[in-house]
Amino acid sequence: MILIAQTRRDHLPLDASPARYWNYNSIYSPTMSTNNHNRGNWKSRMGFILAASGSAVGLGNVWKFPYIVGENGGGAFVLIYLVCILIIGFPIMLAEFTLGRKTQLNPVGAFQELRPGSPWVGIGYMGVIAGFLIMSFYAVVGGWTLAYIVKSVTHSVLEFQTPQQAGEFFNAFIGNTQEVLFYHALFLGLCLGIVIKGVHGGIEKACGILMPTLAVLLVILMIRSLTLPGAMEGVKFYLYPDFSKINGEVVLIALGQAFFSLSLGMGAMLTYGSYLSEKENLTSSTAYVVLFDTLIALLVGMVIFPAVFSMGLEPTQGPGLVFNVLPTVFTSMPFGTFISIAFFTLLAIAALTSGISLIEVVVAYFIDQRGWNRKKAVLVVGAIIFALGIPSGLSFGLLADAKFMEMNFFDHIDNITSNYLLPLGGMLTAVFAGWVWGVPAVRNEIEKHETQFHWAEIWGFLIRYITPVAVACVFLGKFFN
Ligand code: TRP
Repeated sequence: MILIAQTRRDHLPLDASPARYWNYNSIYSPTMSTNNHNRGNWKSRMGFILAASGSAVGLGNVWKFPYIVGENGGGAFVLIYLVCILIIGFPIMLAEFTLGRKTQLNPVGAFQELRPGSPWVGIGYMGVIAGFLIMSFYAVVGGWTLAYIVKSVTHSVLEFQTPQQAGEFFNAFIGNTQEVLFYHALFLGLCLGIVIKGVHGGIEKACGILMPTLAVLLVILMIRSLTLPGAMEGVKFYLYPDFSKINGEVVLIALGQAFFSLSLGMGAMLTYGSYLSEKENLTSSTAYVVLFDTLIALLVGMVIFPAVFSMGLEPTQGPGLVFNVLPTVFTSMPFGTFISIAFFTLLAIAALTSGISLIEVVVAYFIDQRGWNRKKAVLVVGAIIFALGIPSGLSFGLLADAKFMEMNFFDHIDNITSNYLLPLGGMLTAVFAGWVWGVPAVRNEIEKHETQFHWAEIWGFLIRYITPVAVACVFLGKFFN
């Protein structure tokens, strides 16, 4: 049966019409459906879109996006970012969803199935390794966000007069071995607890609750922030288009951020696409996910900058903005305790729904390729990620001096994944979809349900010529940095 299934997939003529394709499918649909049944499926289109948006909306949106907009030309940067989303983000995400739905497999299985025995399967392995590595330090930072919820409740992060005081408190906290490891384990445990319940029962249900909660918190926070005295100064700083700040490097930053923010390049979206049934419309689903991710990133800035300006603090703090500046803002703000709890809960939810998808990539690999059951996969993967995360967690305390080439362990893992593995994976995915598996095959798969893939020509042009070159530029830009 497996052989037949393989034959069906591999020797399907590229120009097969959708109608012809349906015949193939109906013959072998029993195999397909048992397959699907064992792996799990999204039960609704909304569930899928929320889960994929949950993967995309993460620390990158809440923590990173606002400060890079603030530092790199405000509204002008946002414009460039939107262009990057359209010419890089959208095409790669659509390619990943399509590869996943077509093969109904994890990244390793997907590339193996489409080009058996070829080196392209390496993209899949890179994705699985990236999943392990990213999650190991993502869970450490996720742990920090949980700790700050608790510390908001107990008020210990709400007693600062200056960002320096908040900074000292933060540094002492991330250097505290026991606390950091406890929250690392707690965050990872929450993610694992959701993933172990499966695609529909765990991920879809959790995201169905968490993502709307995130949206509600965001609106509450935005109202509070925009009604503070002097709030508009912050909005102006954030969005005022300063074209003089735009140069090649800024464009590369925008490209890199578009890529990271949409969770591309490691098969996360491919894996989520593999739980789709054939009746879903892929292009419009991609559009929703891209839209939500961008909207949330933009709105978070509307929370942070008005508040920071209103309290007369410096917005150009860079990475320290969230943990050093904001607690100072919350300290002096009316309803500060509540707002602080709400903000760190928002941050934790964003991190949680991304963490889930990172784990799911790795778990799907062990389920599909190694025949493990979900429980075993989750427990083994969780144990390895916890262990891998320990040196990252200790990188600001016990192991702070254990530097290699001026970077601690945490920085290295972050650097290897964000600057090398993800861009490389994304570029190769684009080349694979555009040139190897090929535009006609992608088009076929998309048109299996959509009556017509209106944008096929434009998409084909972007994924073959523009996307790989653009990602290669980001990649090389970082390499020579
Ligand atoms: N998109 C996530 C964020 O904005 C980070 C991320 C990058 C990610 N690649 C991923 C999350 C892969 C899940 C899977 O923070």
